[in-house]
Amino acid sequence: MTTIAIIGAGRGLGAAVARRFGREGFTIALVARNRDRVDALAAGLQADGVTARGYVADVRDADSLRAALEDATSDLGPIEVVQYSPLPAKEYMRPVLETTADDLVGPIEFSVYGPVTVVRQVLPGMRALGRGTLLFVNGASAVRPRDAVTGTSIGFAGESAYAQLLHEALAAESVHVGQLIIPFGIDDGDPDHSGTAVAERLWAMHAERGACRVLAARLD
Ligand SMILES: NC(=O)c1ccc[n+]([C@@H]2O[C@H](COP(=O)([O-])OP(=O)(O)OC[C@H]3O[C@@H](n4cnc5c(N)ncnc54)[C@H](OP(=O)(O)O)[C@@H]3O)[C@@H](O)[C@H]2O)c1
Repeated sequence: MTTIAIIGAGRGLGAAVARRFGREGFTIALVARNRDRVDALAAGLQADGVTARGYVADVRDADSLRAALEDATSDLGPIEVVQYSPLPAKEYMRPVLETTADDLVGPIEFSVYGPVTVVRQVLPGMRALGRGTLLFVNGASAVRPRDAVTGTSIGFAGESAYAQLLHEALAAESVHVGQLIIPFGIDDGDPDHSGTAVAERLWAMHAERGACRVLAARLD
């Protein structure tokens, strides 16, 4: 049995993806900042027969991220799949003319340094396993920068470039890299927008290993 590490695992998409991959026999490492919340999520999965454990890390703190992934590997076994999907902070979402260089430190650490730290930590294990999947999840501003969310637009642009470059560099090594763009609110009432429906898309990206970028819905 191998493990999916969900980086930024909460009650929405994180929990839905944990259930989807759990159904396929994956063990689940749930990574986020709040110990009580990841433990509660893990307990809910365990109650449904899925092996899951919570780990505490802040994606803006590289040491905590590396330690969480190391602990997950030694507790649960090799990490075959990583999903990078922490929910960006409101403070990253300011208009461009009000955004200073200092305001971009958070979004860049969150959306660029975090992914690079994670990938460099898990890639040796995926290579040893002979396969792996790296999934990045973003909103529409990754594709169409939007004034109201300048920090995330700029951070997501860096994350998008990194995902695309990884996709090309790792294709020959059986490590699939995908980026899912979600241009709607998760669980906004439309059944196609439920966390469960989005988790299904992410499962298909892992299982079918198609193009790098996948749109969860048409961009208007
Ligand atoms: N929600 C939407 O409507 C929507 C729309 C489009 C795209 N997305 C994408 O979907 C993903 C999120 O899905 P979701 O909204 O359903 O969230 P979720 O899986 O319910 O929760 C995400 C978790 O990220 C964790 N997180 C936030 N900042 C973090 C940090 N610095 N370090 C570690 N963990 C952190 C939070 O837990 P802690 O507070 O415990 O750290 C939070 O519970 C993101 O990739 C987002 O870009 C969401």
